[in-house]
Amino acid sequence: MIDTRVKIAGVEFKNPVTTASGTFGSGREYGEFADINRLGAVTVKGVAAEPWLGNDSPRIAEVYGGMLNSVGLQNPGAEYFIKEDIPFLRQFDTRIIVNVCGHTIDEYVKAVEILSEADVDMLELNISCPNVKEGGMAFGTDCKMIEKVVGEVKKKAKKPLIVKMSPNVTDITETSKAAEAAGADALSMINTITGMKIDIYRRKPVLANKIGGLSGPAVKPVAVRMVWQSAKAVRIPIIGMGGITTAEDAIEFIMAGASMTAVGTANFTNPTATMDIISGIEKFMTENNIGSLDEIRGIIE
Ligand SMILES: Cc1cc2nc3c(=O)[nH]c(=O)nc-3n(C[C@H](O)[C@H](O)[C@H](O)COP(=O)(O)O)c2cc1C
Repeated sequence: MIDTRVKIAGVEFKNPVTTASGTFGSGREYGEFADINRLGAVTVKGVAAEPWLGNDSPRIAEVYGGMLNSVGLQNPGAEYFIKEDIPFLRQFDTRIIVNVCGHTIDEYVKAVEILSEADVDMLELNISCPNVKEGGMAFGTDCKMIEKVVGEVKKKAKKPLIVKMSPNVTDITETSKAAEAAGADALSMINTITGMKIDIYRRKPVLANKIGGLSGPAVKPVAVRMVWQSAKAVRIPIIGMGGITTAEDAIEFIMAGASMTAVGTANFTNPTATMDIISGIEKFMTENNIGSLDEIRGIIE
């Protein structure tokens, strides 16, 4: 018998697989391919207090081993999310994690106040988006700013708070410790790594925003290293992501110390990726006599 359940900040998930914010919409888009009932959770695209338009196109580019995006947190706002997306997701037996964005501390706090009243299981504070001019990564790369924004948000958060960490830092353990000290109940990592692609024939950057965020298999070793380092530096649980494409990838993150894993860019190349990964984890556990994920979590010294 295998038990794939995991618990994060008092919330139980049936398995350690969620979707990475921004790569699965609110689940509707994947209905034909993925049985949402099988997912440990759905982590939805970033939601702000008010609707955001996002950046100009082109805002997606393929690169070796992954993609660049500069979507810029386009979203229809909290009111739409509460009215349309929550009732859709609540039809399924899964947890809902809402990714929260803002340009300023006040905007983050306002979004968290609104979403705390909504029927969601956890809040994930995105302080690491590289594609917005104000807020986003500017908050997530500076320990003092992390403490301030997480501290303010925590005062109003009525749901467990995950803080989504930026990989665009010199020392992930410092920023992780700052988020923990300010009251984060869990961390998620990594968001995208800043990158750029140039069209040499047009002599222009491919993205209208010039710079975007790199995701996909290319970032996985960086993400595994950061999860491993942070897991040793903090006591709160970590949701690991960055290039997870197969069950073996997800298990690597768990062995590095992650309690849960999220599948992002892989959804774009294989819309059944989450299902394949859940089945693959079960198969790995059965074949290797692993009764519970506690037996392998963080086993890498
Ligand atoms: C198109 C796109 C949109 C994204 N939107 C968000 C977002 O709204 N909020 C957020 O925290 N992360 C966002 N991310 C980052 C992912 O959730 C994830 O952290 C990152 O892509 C690394 O995982 P992956 O390599 O499996 O995609 C986005 C990524 C992509 C590719």
